Amino acid sequence: MGWQVAVEEWKGSWWLWWGLLSMLLVLEGRQQELPARVNLSAAPAPAPAVPTALHSKMDELEGQLLAKVLALEKERAALSHSSHQQRQEMEQELDALQGRVAELEHGSSAYKPPDAFKVSIPIRNNYMYARVRKALPELYAFTACMWLRSRSGGTGQGTPFSYSVPGQANEIVLLEAGHEPMELLINDKVAQLPMSLKDNSWHHICIAWTTRDGLWSAYQDGELQGSGENLAAWHPIKPHGILILGQEQDTLGGRFDATQAFVGDIAQFNLWDHVLTPAQVLGIANCTAPLLGNVLPWEDKLVETFGGATKAAFDVCKGRAKA
Ligand SMILES: *[C@@H]1O[C@H](CO)[C@@H](O)[C@H](O)[C@H]1NC(C)=O
Ligand SMILES: *[C@@H]1O[C@H](CO)[C@@H](O)[C@H](O)[C@H]1NC(C)=O
Repeated sequence: MGWQVAVEEWKGSWWLWWGLLSMLLVLEGRQQELPARVNLSAAPAPAPAVPTALHSKMDELEGQLLAKVLALEKERAALSHSSHQQRQEMEQELDALQGRVAELEHGSSAYKPPDAFKVSIPIRNNYMYARVRKALPELYAFTACMWLRSRSGGTGQGTPFSYSVPGQANEIVLLEAGHEPMELLINDKVAQLPMSLKDNSWHHICIAWTTRDGLWSAYQDGELQGSGENLAAWHPIKPHGILILGQEQDTLGGRFDATQAFVGDIAQFNLWDHVLTPAQVLGIANCTAPLLGNVLPWEDKLVETFGGATKAAFDVCKGRAKA
């Protein structure tokens, strides 16, 4: 390799590092100027809601940038053997980072309101999914509600969601595989749910469970379809797992199986740390009293899509008859 080529490559990586460094500096600067804008004595009320959201978004972004820097550092070590194409790829990555910064500048949420979106998985596969970026606490009861529109063409719904924790891949799973009935798994124990969602239109479903006697109930479109007991009775749901929409985890955060994948749209996945009343469930399903989960609200910034799954603006209750 000639001396001039080496200089060229050095220049390429110099620009890359300069770009990253200046972005980090911009972020640092923003973070420092934020608290100054919040005059606590002028606003004793919880005014900093937006700055807090912005802060966490920036923390998150900075974390991502740092991870990228590390990755690029590794790549740079290999740069002496690299090609023009590889440098271009790194520059594309820089562009993507700049895109994230621009997103930050346009406010903390892309959708207005931040829950007005859906996740779409267009085809059956083992790599498209959405991951929820919020750690769950230990739970002694929960209600999970969501709107689903299956595109599976009459076969099973696959896995609308799965929650894995270290040592237990099936901590909570909602699954309808092939022509089997829909199942709720908790700590790998199974209850069969009398639900039918095979007509490819939007349905609202809620699953409620409590550790006390392992009581569960399942609602479809606001109506109780079934209930039972002894499903993982007295088992507390373990915290800090990985919650994934659209795929079944055979191991923590991975080993997806296309035959268990969800195909279609998911919206308003909300999670509460208690059992909702039938009237609350009905109010959500008939759009007269939508509720956001107290443990996990359906919120743009908490839901990240991977592998080609997409997010799009969507309000499930818009145009739905209110009563
Ligand atoms: C904060 O607000 C108080 C009351 O409105 C005002 O007296 C004070 O000058 C403000 N401080 C700053 C730094 O803006
Ligand atoms: C909608 O849900 C509420 C309960 O939250 C109920 O009072 C009302 O009758 C329901 N309307 C219809 C049309 O089902």
